[in-house]
Order: sequence, then C-alpha cells, then structure tokens
Amino acid sequence: MSETTDPQTIKSRITRTFDLIAEGYDNPSQRFFPFAADYMMALAKPVPGERVLDVATGTGMAAIAAAQAITPGGRVQAIDLSENMLAKAQRNVSKHALANVDFHVMDAEALEFRSDYFDLISCAFGVFFFTDAQRALKSWLRVLKPGGRIIFSSFRPNVFHPMAGWFREAIEAAGVPFPEPAWLRLAETDLCRQLVEEAGYCQVQVSSKQLGYHLASENDWWEIIWNSGFRGILNALKPEQQTTLREQHLAQVAELKTADGLWLDVEVIFTQAQKPVS
Ligand SMILES: C[S@@+](CC[C@H](N)C(=O)[O-])C[C@H]1O[C@@H](n2cnc3c(N)ncnc32)[C@H](O)[C@@H]1O
Repeated sequence: MSETTDPQTIKSRITRTFDLIAEGYDNPSQRFFPFAADYMMALAKPVPGERVLDVATGTGMAAIAAAQAITPGGRVQAIDLSENMLAKAQRNVSKHALANVDFHVMDAEALEFRSDYFDLISCAFGVFFFTDAQRALKSWLRVLKPGGRIIFSSFRPNVFHPMAGWFREAIEAAGVPFPEPAWLRLAETDLCRQLVEEAGYCQVQVSSKQLGYHLASENDWWEIIWNSGFRGILNALKPEQQTTLREQHLAQVAELKTADGLWLDVEVIFTQAQKPVS
C-alpha cells in the first residue's frame, strides 16, 4: 500500500475500509469499543438536557451511551465518513429504542453545525485518523458553547501486543509494506495533552485505563484483524496469500494462549478538556 499525504485520498481510503468492515465491526472480540464508550461517558458525565456531538461515531457506541445519559431533553448528533458504519449505528440505536440521536455523513475536519451549540463533543478512537488533528480540534471550538467539554480516546502503543506486531511482520514477509498504524500518532499522554493545549483548550485532563480481556482463542484475534482497520492492509494480499498468512500467523498466536485464553491488551488514553469561557 503506497503512503500518500493527500487528505482526500486518505479520507477515501478510510471510508472504503470502514464501509467494508461495518457489518462485522460489533463482533464480541471487539467488545473493547462499547467498554471504552461507556467508560468515556462515565468520565465526561453528560447530564439530561445536554447537546452532544459524537464525532467518528462508527457504529454508534459512544453516541448510544451519551443518548442514554442526556435523557430527558438532550439530543446527540453523530457523524462519520462511512455510510455503512452509520447504517449500523442507526440499527444499534433502534435496538436500544432511543429517539434522541441523529446521524449525518460529515467530515470531522469540516463540521457543519451552528456556533456555540454543543455542551460536549466526544470522539472515540477517531482523532488519530484525522489528516490535521490540531486544525480539526481548533475548529471544534466554534461549535462548542463557552465552557463546553471535549473527550476523545486513543490507544497506547502496546495495544494488541504482541499479536499486532507479529501480524505486521507477517504482512511484510508477504512483500506488502505495512503503513505506520494511525493510532501511534496519539499513543502518548504528553502528545494528547499538547494537542489540545495548542488547539486552545483549557482544564486538560489525560488519563489511561486498561480495558483489555481474554479472548477465547486465536480465531477471536482473527475476528479483530478481519473487522478492523487491519483488513484494509490484508486486502493488499491475494486470497490464497491471505489463507497462508492466516494459518501461519494464527499458529504463532496460539502459542500465547494460557488457561485463561489469549490476553488482549487494550490500554486506552482518555483526553478531556474545555473551551475557555471567554
Ligand atoms: C476505529 S473507528 C471508531 C468508531 C467508534 N467511535 C467506536 O469507538 O467504535 C473510527 C471511525 O472514524 C471514522 N472517521 C475517520 N476519519 C473521519 C473523519 N475525518 N470524519 C468523520 N469520521 C471519520 C471512520 O469512518 C470510523 O468509523
């Protein structure tokens, strides 16, 4: 896969990948997404009546957690680039019988909402995909009320260790370059703090939390590869190469299993900040 710096090419690639994986994204192996969404809202503490914007909502996990917390009277606007992720999010919202979430196909880096409108902007595992994260965060200040909050999550560098590194080695051994994982851009607490401070926020708080668990087997790890951004990289291989890689990689990963199963490290950074009042 060639590296590009053109924002539209990057966004199209992101959209294609998430459109492709939307159907399987909510599989139980990836239950860290709803865990992190719930934890994020426990930190952000939205209250009834508030207006929330959930950016890069994906299948809507954080939007749902927020929508439950701001009832009655509150409303969530949830945006994403991927129509298929949003279609899944709409189905998830319906399952929860929530009527206070609206979905829009919209770029997080070009918000189309009115000024001074939201009490809270949340973004779970999205900011590190942005082509210019600092510019995006600066632009969010416009739509936040004075004193409004933001919260976003990112992964620590050891996420999915050691399986993710082994997968990378397997891909490279098959002759395909492995792009630098986007999450590494915000994998340090200092970087997260610096990003929001330089974007103009105050009251910055950065914390991390281990949200990992044991997978039953190496096949559950493959569910993560197949239904996450890794799939976009895997797709550069021919189907027969994918089969060989899967067999060899999973045989290696199976060696890690203990009586508890296969440990999935998911250490997450949560960054919170506020728009200055004046
Ligand atoms: C790893 S998923 C996270 C989804 C969800 N927030 C969660 O925690 O499960 C990243 C999401 O960010 C979206 N995304 C990436 N760049 C975006 C952008 N510039 N604007 C809107 N959505 C974006 C992708 O389409 C994808 O749905």
